[in-house]
Amino acid sequence: MVTDTESIGIFSVIRERRSVRNYTDREIPDEALRAIIAAGIQAPTALGLQPWQFVVVRDRELMRQASDYCKPILLEKIGEESRPGTEEFLAALRNPEFNIFYNAPVLVLVLGARDVVSSVLDCALCAENMMLAAWALGIGSCWIGSAALIEQNPGILAALKVPEDHQIVAPLIFGYPAPLSPKPVRREPRITWVP
Ligand SMILES: Cc1cc2nc3c(=O)[nH]c(=O)nc-3n(C[C@H](O)[C@H](O)[C@H](O)COP(=O)(O)O)c2cc1C
Repeated sequence: MVTDTESIGIFSVIRERRSVRNYTDREIPDEALRAIIAAGIQAPTALGLQPWQFVVVRDRELMRQASDYCKPILLEKIGEESRPGTEEFLAALRNPEFNIFYNAPVLVLVLGARDVVSSVLDCALCAENMMLAAWALGIGSCWIGSAALIEQNPGILAALKVPEDHQIVAPLIFGYPAPLSPKPVRREPRITWVP
């Protein structure tokens, strides 16, 4: 059977989604965020434990504080690694105006229960569902892994109402996209067929 994936909606959403780092100021309605989280929690979880919680942050000043906390730590860490392709990000981090959340109107923290061994995997699957659902609603997103550094700052964690028994797995920003940059090209997958 030949499957025409062009005509199946979920394939086009998966194909077209890209990380958005440039947003308009338009706010995302609560209902859209609820729909995105509702899609997130449809993800499979080990033992069906659903070990997640969500924090929706619209406080731009708090996001700015979190960004300002993370930037110097990132500069030091990424500077040490000095991998090819990191120069642009390093330059951005040196810019006092740069915000690691790209001035997105909303940050959603997907939190995983610390006492569930699979919670990082479960929350990552949830996060991908959320990013795809957002794209289907015309809403852009980006996983801001750098923001996990706020785990080291008890004051910011408290301000973000992150409970002590949960860890930040996926800091996701959402917003309506300003002009999009091209989607990074994927390498051909190496596939081994047995037999
Ligand atoms: C675990 C994880 C952490 C990421 N952290 C960041 C980040 O801190 N900042 C950022 O701009 N993008 C971040 N990204 C987005 C990736 O850079 C992006 O997914 C990748 O370049 C592929 O591009 P695409 O999402 O447009 O297909 C992260 C993605 C993942 C999965």
